[in-house]
Amino acid sequence: MTDNLQVSTHPMVQHKLTLLRRVQTEPKKFRELVQELTRFLLYEATQDIGLERLEIETPLTTMLGYRNATQIGLFPILRAGLGMVDSAIEMIPTAHVWHLGLYRDHNTLEPVTYYNKLPPQLDVDVCIVLDPMLATGGSAVAAVDILKRWGATRIKFLGLIAAPEGVAALHNAHPDVSVHLAALDDGLNEKSYIVPGLGDAGDRQYGTG
Ligand code: PRP
Ligand code: URA
Repeated sequence: MTDNLQVSTHPMVQHKLTLLRRVQTEPKKFRELVQELTRFLLYEATQDIGLERLEIETPLTTMLGYRNATQIGLFPILRAGLGMVDSAIEMIPTAHVWHLGLYRDHNTLEPVTYYNKLPPQLDVDVCIVLDPMLATGGSAVAAVDILKRWGATRIKFLGLIAAPEGVAALHNAHPDVSVHLAALDDGLNEKSYIVPGLGDAGDRQYGTG
């Protein structure tokens, strides 16, 4: 594991991820598990978020506490990343959310951008890209390209499952981007699906396919 690849070893993550992978898990349960896993991974991915001191009063005295001094941006990649947003923003209620519409062309496997309404000025300190699956890495690299063109300098990728090929592609293109995962799987099959994986994360959340 490199410095900027963090694969969770938390027992609850491994338990929930196993339920998520099972072919019998229906969309409602699948969506719940995506949200629960996102909470755990976001907790781990925000360990280096900057704080500032803040004087407060308790019922007994005054003391110096802390508050988050980092404006976090959440960037779900449509569609599958959408399922990670609600629990992420519940954990970080001050986060800004900007959606990125990208899909992987089934024939070329190239990412196609179909939605991007980022404001003209960068309005966050740290960008967290949300997408459950990092397969060839094409979509994640394209999302980070968009954020860097926007001016972002601190970017994290938060996913559930990755193939080593996807992690390598993202690290090669953007070595500064940290990758936070629940699992690093064996590889890709001939259709560039992650194996053992969980199938198509968008289809399994939204009952399509
Ligand atoms: C999936 C997934 C990623 C992408 C990963 O999305 O959610 O965005 O594939 O593959 P890559 O690393 O090879 O680019 P998909 O294109 O299936 O779109 P969807 O979420 O709308 O179903
Ligand atoms: N996208 C998915 O949803 N699953 C994969 O295994 C690969 C890409």
